[in-house]
Amino acid sequence: MRILGIETSCDETGVAVYDTSRAGSAGLRAHAVYSQVALHAEYGGVVPELASRDHVRKLLPLVRQTLAGAGLGVGDLDGVAYTAGPGLVGALLVGAGVARSLAWALDVPAIGVHHMEGHLLAPLMEDPDPVHGSPEPPFVALLVSGGHTQLVAVEAIGRYRLLGETLDDAAGEAFDKTAKLMGLPYPGGPQLAALAETGAPGAYRFSRPMTDRPGLDFSFSGLKTQVMLAWRDSDQSDATRADIARGFEDAVVETLAIKCERALDAAGCGTLIVAGGVGANKRLRARLHEMAATRGGRVCFPRMELCTDNGAMIAYAGALRLQAGQHDDASVHVAPRWDM
Ligand code: KG4
Ligand code: ZN
Repeated sequence: MRILGIETSCDETGVAVYDTSRAGSAGLRAHAVYSQVALHAEYGGVVPELASRDHVRKLLPLVRQTLAGAGLGVGDLDGVAYTAGPGLVGALLVGAGVARSLAWALDVPAIGVHHMEGHLLAPLMEDPDPVHGSPEPPFVALLVSGGHTQLVAVEAIGRYRLLGETLDDAAGEAFDKTAKLMGLPYPGGPQLAALAETGAPGAYRFSRPMTDRPGLDFSFSGLKTQVMLAWRDSDQSDATRADIARGFEDAVVETLAIKCERALDAAGCGTLIVAGGVGANKRLRARLHEMAATRGGRVCFPRMELCTDNGAMIAYAGALRLQAGQHDDASVHVAPRWDM
């Protein structure tokens, strides 16, 4: 099966073709992402109406470009998968409308995919580890993006149990807001992480929220306030900004690592998979590898470019669902808010 995947839930237009007849990463015949970051930068955040309009402009050219990159024609597709939610309703409708229309015109099935299920399955698209093979359920997934921070027990593909989640800001949102309050331009998360590389470890120490009591939920908004106060009372020099960034990143990474280890214990699993934009954070990757190694377990990440929003994860998740015989009816339906 060759499945076209379309992602338009926020400010990235993502398109990919996944081919189930090829194993591992070779199944990903082509993928392309167009980022709207420059468009939203002057507003300091995503403007939903501008996002929808830009998806309208970019989606079809990106579909053509991706098919050409895969050496395929539109008639070679066996199905179309699209992000049906959660996300910005107007942006979702662009992807859903194009996906459903294409599927109808080609007389192939269409399937709406949950954006977080796409993130969750992305690491399974990668080539098997030479020693351990591909990760197989049961495992624990840490989903860390700009909109979500969740720990999920994956009992089987399609059978998910929420173990814990953030009670306020998502980890990526905390990165972005903290960056903004120290004057970094939008989108701040990756820039704050880059700045933290040059900061002195231990110069600032912030709390590890909710790690001093049992449970698997998170809270990151208080950390942001701690940073705000530290920044306000500092000399606000470049060196101090980097030191505070390092202290903040260490606090988030350590909190996530503590909760991941607890979640593995609670679920009785040895394997952790990590997905979502914050999974691109180098210090988080290193810390979770270290945690898994000391337990004799393993942690799996998708490659960096598949951590953030992309069409490949949607094509892959859709392919698994279509192979299992699922598909949507003919109506265009999206769900801006949707539990996985
Ligand atoms: O998964 P994603 O691309 O979009 C959502 O579905 O939210 O995640 C984007 C989030 C943003 O909050 C961004 O600041 C964060 O991921 N992010 C990072 C890094 N790269 C992206 N946060 C920390 N360190 C990074 N290297
Ligand atoms: Zn995402």
